[in-house]
Amino acid sequence: MDQSLPLSYNQSPINNKIMEEKISAKIWPNGPILISGEIKVVYKDGKEEVKKDAHFCRCGHSNNKPFCDGAHKKAGFLDE
Ligand code: FES
Repeated sequence: MDQSLPLSYNQSPINNKIMEEKISAKIWPNGPILISGEIKVVYKDGKEEVKKDAHFCRCGHSNNKPFCDGAHKKAGFLDE
C-alpha cells in the first residue's frame, strides 16, 4: 500500500470560521478511515476543499482517491 498520502489536514480556522467541532478518526475493519467533523483537505497541487465526515481510502483501489468509493469490497481488501 502506498504510504505517501497526497493530502493533509489541520484544525486551523476554515473560511474565517473558528472550528468548534472535534475531529475524530474511525478505522473501519477492511475498509476506509472515516474522519468525522469538518476538515480542510489540501491536495498535492495545493487545491483546498472543506469536507465533512469524509471516508479516506486505505486499500489503494479507489477511483476517487484519496476518498473511498467502495472499491475495497470488490477488491477483497483485508487490513490484517
Ligand atoms: S478503502 Fe474503500 S476504496 Fe479503498
